[in-house]
Amino acid sequence: MIEKRAPGKLFVAGEYAVVEPGQPAVLVAVDRCITVRLTESQDAGRVHSSEYGQAPLVWVRDENGENIVLEHRPADYVLSAISIVEELRSSFGAPPRYFDLDISSELDDASGRKFGLGSSGAVTVATIAALDEFYALGLTRTERYKLALLATIAIAPNASGGDLAASTFGGWIRYSSPDRAALKLHREVHGVASALHCSEWAGSGATRIIPPESLRLLVGWTGSPASTEHLVKRVHTPGDEKPLPFESFTSESRACVDALVDAFDQDDAAVALENIRQTRRLLQRLGESSGSRIETDQLRLLCDIAETYGAAAKPSGAGGGDCGIALSDASLPTIDILREWERHGIQRLSLSPHRAEGGI
Ligand code: MEV
Repeated sequence: MIEKRAPGKLFVAGEYAVVEPGQPAVLVAVDRCITVRLTESQDAGRVHSSEYGQAPLVWVRDENGENIVLEHRPADYVLSAISIVEELRSSFGAPPRYFDLDISSELDDASGRKFGLGSSGAVTVATIAALDEFYALGLTRTERYKLALLATIAIAPNASGGDLAASTFGGWIRYSSPDRAALKLHREVHGVASALHCSEWAGSGATRIIPPESLRLLVGWTGSPASTEHLVKRVHTPGDEKPLPFESFTSESRACVDALVDAFDQDDAAVALENIRQTRRLLQRLGESSGSRIETDQLRLLCDIAETYGAAAKPSGAGGGDCGIALSDASLPTIDILREWERHGIQRLSLSPHRAEGGI
């Protein structure tokens, strides 16, 4: 059996802006993972996951034994990850085989509600890692990230891939996305193997960063899941009556991310926290100007409580529910924040930043 684990992630700054190619964001991977276990099978492939209920998702190959056939092919991240690796395997001339995948997640609660820690990204990354080993493709970490991004944009063309980079490389990263429309086109015209090394793609877009040693991270879960895709669409296509000052948002977001990364370099926790606070203000303005509920009532409460007691706080990722983060200096007692969160139905998620492993 092959077993691969991929961590979830949190957005620390730069969300929404990062959807524009070249715009930077800061993310951190967390020490909660999705695990994919792969075993070889004979007559069909099965994917066992709580996402599909009790019955596994079953696929077979076409009469040539090559392509995957599903009667009703849902837009599914696992299947998209399988398809992209299958296309690469086929172009390498490696013979097709059947396999079963068993997926388990630490990124949901006991009843399967998602925390919003990037489970789609993590399952895509872990599936690709498992198949890389199964077919002995010998992919580099950056190639696995690139495959994960190609698999993801086949389903969600706007996705920045920040979650995939965090999940692939671990630790804290600065990330900026490539031109996904150009990559998608390149893949369609020239195939996956060529897309991995095309000129549209300089590198992974990720660099490792190290936060000030005294920075502490708290994560609160609102209990209501959000739809990232829906929110991103809304922010990027505002109604006529509300022209969106998206350009000024992206340039202010870039300034914030740059200042945050500089503060990390200088080991300056106070400046880092100031820029997290500023990121929250930018997201609030973006929400107002686009008519999107990025900061829901529960997220506002979560952040206000943390700010009242001296931390810097913001929604993580698309907002609209899911979770929020509070960062503070180690000297700040966090007991009051946690007590108030609990009193208002905000659950603390006990997790820590994931330790970076391997280069980028
Ligand atoms: C969602 O977690 C973060 C967004 O920036 C979308 C993306 O990066 O794909 C809103």
